[in-house]
Amino acid sequence: MPITTVNGSQFGDEGKGKIVDLLAEHFDLGVRPTAGDNAGHTVVANGKTVKMRLAPSAIVAGTPVIIGDDVMINPFTLAKEIEDLKGAGVDVDNLLTVSTNTHLVLPYHVYLDELNEVGETPIGTTKRGIGPAFADKVNRKGMRMEEFVSPEILKKRLEQLTERVNRMAVALGGDKEFYAQELYEQLAPAADILRPYVGPSAQKIHKALAEGQEVLIEGAQGSLNDLVFGTYPYVTSSRPIVGGLLAGAGVGPKHVERVIGVMKPYQTRVGIGPIVGEMFGEEADLIVRRGNEYGTVTGRARRVMACDLVALKHTSELNGTTAFALTKLDVLDESPKIKLVTGYIVDGKKADLFPTNLDYAKVKEEYTIIDGWNTPTSHIRDYDKLPKQVKELVNIIEQFTNVAVAIVSVGADREATIVRHPEMVLPKRALAAYQK
Ligand code: IMP
Ligand code: MG
Repeated sequence: MPITTVNGSQFGDEGKGKIVDLLAEHFDLGVRPTAGDNAGHTVVANGKTVKMRLAPSAIVAGTPVIIGDDVMINPFTLAKEIEDLKGAGVDVDNLLTVSTNTHLVLPYHVYLDELNEVGETPIGTTKRGIGPAFADKVNRKGMRMEEFVSPEILKKRLEQLTERVNRMAVALGGDKEFYAQELYEQLAPAADILRPYVGPSAQKIHKALAEGQEVLIEGAQGSLNDLVFGTYPYVTSSRPIVGGLLAGAGVGPKHVERVIGVMKPYQTRVGIGPIVGEMFGEEADLIVRRGNEYGTVTGRARRVMACDLVALKHTSELNGTTAFALTKLDVLDESPKIKLVTGYIVDGKKADLFPTNLDYAKVKEEYTIIDGWNTPTSHIRDYDKLPKQVKELVNIIEQFTNVAVAIVSVGADREATIVRHPEMVLPKRALAAYQK
């Protein structure tokens, strides 16, 4: 069965880009099936840092990729990203397909997102227009990519859509008006850039699977940002859990062999919303600084929490996670103590099941605290050579969640990685080559 998925087990920014980049060369096809340019992935390969928002991270390794059917595309972002990737030496023209079914984030969606966020119930979005664009999609008022790259249809659709949009903006207290012709002139150059890449997605994936190709499906954001299972309403508008990835790619679960959950030994969250195990002061600052924990899209310092094993167990069940990739271990190299949340108390009682959203906001956490290792780990390439406190940490994670930690990442670079259980994360045919 040739599908491997990589998705976030926490609140996003777990380091999925690096893990996908590491694995991608062993796959025939990479697919990013959900979300939009609210996501930000950083890949460091051959000393070069590549930041991406829409293109699948697998493209950096030279793997053919598809932006799948449920992605929300800001055309200006993607046009610029194509140019940047070409500048970084990536053969975008031969590697990238953008699904005809993707929807567009248009300038008025960004404006509506801003208006929503100054209202009485902001949720701390990235203000990329994602929520309003998904709302239009669900409302059947969206613009699809195959329409966008056809000049006549684009013009007609903008004429149909702008009047309603202007009424919505006024209702939200806005004073900006959008005109179809002006939007068309603004958008047409981006449509010209994207047109050559547009094609069917799910059909291509089905063909690849029928031919026995190995397909790597990568998520954006984290499972706790999920529209349904996250901490609603402080969630994104898409589905970062594995079920969402499969729906977005248009494939059934029978093909899935490996479900890799990416996690950090601490957690971060951007935006508003309840947090369990939050850290403050020097304890948090050290992690923000060492982990460079600033939003890729917004530049906001991320809020820092202890690694929450209760939540991790829950998301591993939502996803059917078969192995963890533990990233950013080295960020904790100077932390005197390592804290893990290992119990929830709600209304004075130990929670047995993962709490509902209203109860989640009331959680008092119980911690398991172990000694830090106080020594650099970034140079280590052999699991056995890691400090004993790291192994203790890994054991606690595995015992609590019943999921093995197959990869340990000790730095941003592709090389700074320990693949502890290659058979859990790589296609069979790649195993021999990998044990170089
Ligand atoms: P939106 O996706 O811009 O609507 O933002 C909704 C929530 O999801 C906010 O809390 C964002 O900070 C969060 N969010 C969206 N994308 C990401 C991501 O890629 N990483 C982490 N948080 C994200
Ligand atoms: Mg990110």
